[in-house]
Amino acid sequence: MVSKGAAMGSASAKEGWSSRSAFILAAVGAAVGLGNIWRFPTLAGENGGGAFVLVYVAFVALLGLPLVLAEIATGRIGQTDAVGSVRDVARRSNASTGWSITATLGTIGAFLILSFYSVVAGWVLYYAGVMGGELVSAIGRGDPLGGAFAGENNEQIQSRLGALLGNWPLLLGLHAAFMGVTWFVVSRGVHSGIEKAATILMPIFFFLLIGITIYGAFAGNFSEATAFLFTADFSKLTPQVINEALGQALFSLSLGVAGLITYGSYIKQSGGLGGTAATIALADTGVALLAGLMIFPIVFGASLDPAGGPTLVFQALPVAFQTMPGGALIGFLFFLLIFVAALTSSVSLLEVPTAWGKGELKWSRHTSATIFGLGAFGLGVFALLGYNVLSDVRPLGFWGIFENADILDTIDGFTGKIMLPVGVMILSIFIGWKADRKMMQAATGLSGGMFKLWRFLIAWLCPIAVGLVLLFGLFPGLLG
Ligand code: PFF
Repeated sequence: MVSKGAAMGSASAKEGWSSRSAFILAAVGAAVGLGNIWRFPTLAGENGGGAFVLVYVAFVALLGLPLVLAEIATGRIGQTDAVGSVRDVARRSNASTGWSITATLGTIGAFLILSFYSVVAGWVLYYAGVMGGELVSAIGRGDPLGGAFAGENNEQIQSRLGALLGNWPLLLGLHAAFMGVTWFVVSRGVHSGIEKAATILMPIFFFLLIGITIYGAFAGNFSEATAFLFTADFSKLTPQVINEALGQALFSLSLGVAGLITYGSYIKQSGGLGGTAATIALADTGVALLAGLMIFPIVFGASLDPAGGPTLVFQALPVAFQTMPGGALIGFLFFLLIFVAALTSSVSLLEVPTAWGKGELKWSRHTSATIFGLGAFGLGVFALLGYNVLSDVRPLGFWGIFENADILDTIDGFTGKIMLPVGVMILSIFIGWKADRKMMQAATGLSGGMFKLWRFLIAWLCPIAVGLVLLFGLFPGLLG
């Protein structure tokens, strides 16, 4: 154990995780977020369920897991911010330091994602408040296990989202509150901020997730939900669906934004990383599937449309919470659950540019977190104005695939469909072909056969598969 004085004595004392399990918890916290609970069920619902889920799981196993390991190992070698870490691996391998462009792209990507992530998390905060109010009034009626929104019809319940999106001062306040909490955690540092938040919040998260899933299985239509999620209709598989599944797999595992390189750089402990990477990928995918099994029984139980799109969670579920027994309580816990998941993820998003400012510009953690937190907040303001004051703006409207995308959707689509895939493609070519093999084997801790398999997936499968998906996803015309 390092004495307090030694650990905190000098500003340059390297920050780090206090144990392997602290790292795993923080990395799972980064991976599990809005992507799992809001985006995954939405995309699965829109893209026909089973076939999307199957492609998604295949991408996680064959590309995601090897990439998680590649990112963590890179950070572990570099022991500094993501750009510096890739540069360090390049130097030690006698390769061009220009390969660090992958981490530069990733750092910009993390900043861009944070801007809209915080806006959506603000909606979650609002609904947690609304459901909290419903719970209080149910208790006031002497019926704490009653439903929410007593006496309202479906339209009234669903109109809350439209009213929220039209109210920019409210959106601004919620966005500011969420970004403020994120900034607070990151400012406090790796050990007393990020690690502490993950250690407190992740157990709460898992407890709520399992509890609500069990509840939904009894109170909702579980069999229809499992049939929807696990029966594959391959006629639903288009290049766009495949592109969407890849983008979602990368986004959900926090890949391509240098997040895991950054978190990996705080690993001080020795020992192999294969099991650690597998735990992170498994936990993240497990939570996405569980979130599907939590949400769709409720959706089908209330005869709602699974293809409801981004508003599924915010409009469909509240309707279900009206009729379900214990609806007010479950609704409140549900939005609390998403809030907790979003926070541990936004913290990792802000940590990427914060570490960059520290490592590359020699700023203090506090200064760096403040500058990037404020910057992402500012950009997020445009995203939220895109629902009201700037609702006519289509930032990349000249580009077919972004034709109808408002500001938030444009940032989301551009990062997820383009920046993350391009980032991991460059990373996999670099790690697979340029990085010193002995050094990578030592950093990953994989034994002979496993190392060969990993290197094959990184060197061949990742660049080719991601390249093809990008090509056909962005230029659907190529398939005629
Ligand atoms: N993985 C997060 C989610 O699924 O919500 C989003 C995310 C967090 C992406 C952190 C990237 C990142 F660095």
